[in-house]
Amino acid sequence: METSNGMMEKIVSLCKRRGFVFQGSEIYGGFAGFWDYGPLGVALKQNIKNLWWRKFVESRDDMYGLDAAIVMNPKAWEASGHVAGFADPTPDGKSFNTMFKTSVGAGEEATVAYLRPETAGGIFVNFKNVVDSFHPKLPFGIGQIGKAFRNEIAPRDFVFRSREFEQMEVEYFVRPSQWEEKFEEWRKEMFSFIDAVGINKDAVHELEVEDTERAHYSKRTIDFEFDFPFGRKELYGLAYRTDFDLSAHAASSTKDLSYTEEGEEAFIPHVIEPSLGVERTFLAVLASAYTEDELGGEKRVYLKFKPAVAPVKAAIFPLLKNKPELVAKAQEVYQALKKEIPQIVFDDNGNIGKRYRRQDEIGTPFCITIDFDTLGENPELKDTVTLRDRDTGEQKRLTVKEVLELLTSSIKGV
Ligand code: GAP
Repeated sequence: METSNGMMEKIVSLCKRRGFVFQGSEIYGGFAGFWDYGPLGVALKQNIKNLWWRKFVESRDDMYGLDAAIVMNPKAWEASGHVAGFADPTPDGKSFNTMFKTSVGAGEEATVAYLRPETAGGIFVNFKNVVDSFHPKLPFGIGQIGKAFRNEIAPRDFVFRSREFEQMEVEYFVRPSQWEEKFEEWRKEMFSFIDAVGINKDAVHELEVEDTERAHYSKRTIDFEFDFPFGRKELYGLAYRTDFDLSAHAASSTKDLSYTEEGEEAFIPHVIEPSLGVERTFLAVLASAYTEDELGGEKRVYLKFKPAVAPVKAAIFPLLKNKPELVAKAQEVYQALKKEIPQIVFDDNGNIGKRYRRQDEIGTPFCITIDFDTLGENPELKDTVTLRDRDTGEQKRLTVKEVLELLTSSIKGV
């Protein structure tokens, strides 16, 4: 994972040191392709997923959420073409199916099943359920966030190519005549998410995937590539899956998966699929945020996270640790803010400079200090606090109410 500027090593080391990502089963020497997310990593991931869910499911009238089982009837993966075709070549030239196999049930009754290699499968088999219970009009989509598993031959580049990962996928059902228009809309939506989550747009490049390189189900695919520290690699994919999946599942299950509106002939909808990996988002967000600069004559490392994804939104400090009245007031402000914004912390360790550095390194956008003026030493400033901006180091005095308003609006994201 050597990179010319050592950037990847720095990110991996920060992730371990500050509790974002650990090697899976680390005390046993790790397990290739599996990673564990620590307290800050799980918070960052959760914020990424929440942003996606809000933007692509909750804030739209044409989207429906889903959480399907990871292990599905194996017939679904036969119909989708994954049993026959989801394979990579091994170094000695043999074809290796990268679906993880498991067995369900005991003894001779046991059935071979698979851990899903994409969340999309769960969406297609629930198409009819959503249509029957919600009667949506085309175009509409079903969105899902969940684990996917691939027995990658060469897991590498930190969490970039893992064997267990998460996908945030939409299957957007359209009339065949609409596919180009909707493909373009989703292309824009993906860029808008890239921006909202804080990935450097200039480092994202679209790649029209050639006929011979596309997945078996796709008639058109654009890969969104990102300049990762280890090279330009796929971040997301946008595919036009035609009616391939619904037709295949209809034929295999013998269930009618067609759609119709009054007065028209039934047909199988076509599908546009924006597919986003959580771990690759996580890594692109980290790489975009990682910054080294000098502040007040001192070198520092900080993560320029957008407030919406930052694992900690604000840290509350008493100016001095050994003044009980400052600590008590800081605790009071902390408790009041935490009720409204749970992702905040209290810190009274070390001096203020050290606390700033610690928060900068984990990307906390705001530090709030309670000082003697807060207590009323200067009566005009009573109940105001200082708010320090992570990126500029600038400070301003605000009332606690103003701080709450600023935090609330800046963490919204979309
Ligand atoms: N349903 C379409 C699909 O699964 P894909 O291009 O194979 O298409 C979609 O995967 C996205 O899932 C990728 O763009 C990437 O973000 C993520 N992804 C795929 N394989 C991954 C892996 N081994 N580790 C981490 N993320 C992965």
